[in-house]
Amino acid sequence: MKRFRNHITLVATIALLLAMVQVTFATTVDAGGNRIMVNDELINAPTASVNVDGVVLVPMRAVFEALGATVTWQKETKTVMIEKDNLTVMAPIGERIINVGGTPLEMETPAIIVGNQAMIPINTVVELFGAKITFPVVQGISVREDITPAEEQTYPFNLNPLPYTYDSLEPYIDEMTMNIHHTRHHNAYVNSANSGLAEFPQLHDLTSVELLAGFNDLPTDLPASVINTIRNHVGGHTNHELFWEVMSPALADNEMRMPAGELAARIDETFGNFEEFRNEFEEAAKSRFGSGWAWLVVDNGDLKVISTANQDSPYMEGQIPLLGLDVWEHAYYLTYQNMRGDYVSNFWFIVNWDEVARRYSEAK
Ligand SMILES: [Fe+2]
Repeated sequence: MKRFRNHITLVATIALLLAMVQVTFATTVDAGGNRIMVNDELINAPTASVNVDGVVLVPMRAVFEALGATVTWQKETKTVMIEKDNLTVMAPIGERIINVGGTPLEMETPAIIVGNQAMIPINTVVELFGAKITFPVVQGISVREDITPAEEQTYPFNLNPLPYTYDSLEPYIDEMTMNIHHTRHHNAYVNSANSGLAEFPQLHDLTSVELLAGFNDLPTDLPASVINTIRNHVGGHTNHELFWEVMSPALADNEMRMPAGELAARIDETFGNFEEFRNEFEEAAKSRFGSGWAWLVVDNGDLKVISTANQDSPYMEGQIPLLGLDVWEHAYYLTYQNMRGDYVSNFWFIVNWDEVARRYSEAK
């Protein structure tokens, strides 16, 4: 109760502070994947909103800068400083108490780091700036919660929503291509995987990765149709979800995205430098005859660039995929027609290296 009273007092104090500095925020904040509507302006946040125990957190810098504030990171104290007119907010990562113009305010959950982005509970944004929050969400894609990644799914498999909207990767991949690719092609792999395995309950407790990693040791009495279902449709499902996850909206200045940290160092060590890696990956993608994929994988602890035909998965050969590029024509034809090379070289603008690095940290 005491905490509640304090809370009311703090909200009143903040309201007074905001009135004093005459800050006006006409405000709607929608959270949907990487896209957030702030004051009727749709921004591409570098990290998707997350839901922690029922509390939605949004990337601080993207949201507060869209609200007209200046956001700086104080490395020594691991604190985000947000300044708007005469109001200064200090938000230390990992702590529930933030400082608003000299007054402590308790948040629902601590600010956290996701990828390299500081995240703050969306309700705190409301309290600080009087924002109205709704979740009609762009094109029906909501903040994702309770999602089981394709790689951890067992029968029956399901199609997860994308972590961004269908137009988020433009101009590099167009909206219609993304829509058709996800709702029809990927969805068809999910449906075919489920119908193909429906009569084989002995396979229903295995995850998609277990089915693929055990592909060369499947029971010999399984019919060829089941073998093909695992290879083509379970493979297609897991390949496509990885593909969606390793992409994210291009940077605002259209700079090429680059890996960082340990993964970047390992790429340099393995391939010589990033350019050499990129050339090898592009060559794998361009030279794959017909339909298939180019991959960066971990193979026995080493990084490798490979390509696979059709929907064959690296897991089938004991490799762990980190980055994958779909070079089926359905992935690029509407924009690029026969120019697969242009599609491949534009891929680097939309690679989500945070996700690739996360996969690397689990696979190495
Ligand atoms: Fe595809």
